[in-house]
Amino acid sequence: MKAVAVREFAPFEKITVGELPDPTPGKGEVVIDVKAAEVNYPDILVITGQYQVKPPLPFAPGKAAAGIVSAVGDGVTDLTVGDRVTAQVEYGAFAQMLRAPVVNVYRMPDGMDFAKGAALGLVYQTAHFALVERARMAKGDRVLVLGASGGIGVASVQLAKALGAGTVIAGVLGPDNVEIARNSGADVVIDLGSINLREDLRTAVHAATDGHGADVVIDPVGGAANAGALRAMAWRGRMVIIGFASGDIPTIKANYLLVKNIEVSGLQWSDYRDRTPDWVRRVQEEIFALHIEGKLNPVISRKFPLEGFADALSLLRDGKAQGKLILEVG
Ligand SMILES: NC(=O)c1ccc[n+]([C@@H]2O[C@H](COP(=O)([O-])OP(=O)(O)OC[C@H]3O[C@@H](n4cnc5c(N)ncnc54)[C@H](OP(=O)(O)O)[C@@H]3O)[C@@H](O)[C@H]2O)c1
Repeated sequence: MKAVAVREFAPFEKITVGELPDPTPGKGEVVIDVKAAEVNYPDILVITGQYQVKPPLPFAPGKAAAGIVSAVGDGVTDLTVGDRVTAQVEYGAFAQMLRAPVVNVYRMPDGMDFAKGAALGLVYQTAHFALVERARMAKGDRVLVLGASGGIGVASVQLAKALGAGTVIAGVLGPDNVEIARNSGADVVIDLGSINLREDLRTAVHAATDGHGADVVIDPVGGAANAGALRAMAWRGRMVIIGFASGDIPTIKANYLLVKNIEVSGLQWSDYRDRTPDWVRRVQEEIFALHIEGKLNPVISRKFPLEGFADALSLLRDGKAQGKLILEVG
């Protein structure tokens, strides 16, 4: 099969599309003819070997795909050849064929196109677990989302609104990113690039929340924005650390936690995928249902052929990607 073939860990510019062996399904697995794959920031780290999990070489990267089941392994009773599905995996989606454990494969709603199916996966799952599981978001909560024009950010803004947040405040970088956050449902958008993060982020969040502060902070960015957001939190607020798109892992000052009774927690969503697949499946069904109700709509800003994977990854690395990037494979 044709695949983005990683034969040694290296910068993605050195990787090409080539031939890898066709996968066959083992017990409890299916093989999917991939039609669309979601491009995510962690793919860059997987290809260079800097990610927590290093796949055995050679491999295809890619953590989420949508397509059609083409073969089923022993013990698979829920799915059959021809079913339209999405899958969440550790790697393998940037290829014509993907082998996946059936516990991580979800039937797509009728009529949903493959690009949307793929885009409603990892980032919406991560946003859901961040808001509901880690942050225990309640209806009416004031939610601050950093990196709000990116994959996780757009999903978090849309989901926070869909799940009944009060005011949703989006922190973006640069005026070009204001519109995408507003279109995702943010009530207030703050350009983090134009303010003094330490002083002015708190002032802006307080202005947007009648002086209350943020009950929930979703942070896929880190760096100085994280420190500013910590100061903008409300009494008993909950911050969730999702990633470090700024390139800077922040140090949390523990005195803030004490003085305001606030919590900071981390999220590695793939642990939920592997440890609690039934929970993840229920969340996926909820995400699809919210999409059908018109409450979630992935923003797919660009689509690329499989051969264009490096162009897509460059946009992500350079902070030039808005919303989601998709590879069209089939
Ligand atoms: N914990 C998990 O389970 C999990 C799951 C998925 C992803 N992640 C991680 O989450 C992070 C974000 O992923 P993503 O898919 O949302 O990436 P993305 O689409 O590239 O979005 C990143 C966002 O952060 C913004 N940003 C970058 N540097 C910034 C800075 N210095 N100050 C303020 N904002 C800044 C970007 O703005 P510009 O575009 O304008 O630069 C962009 O809006 C990555 O580190 C990824 O590895 C974690």
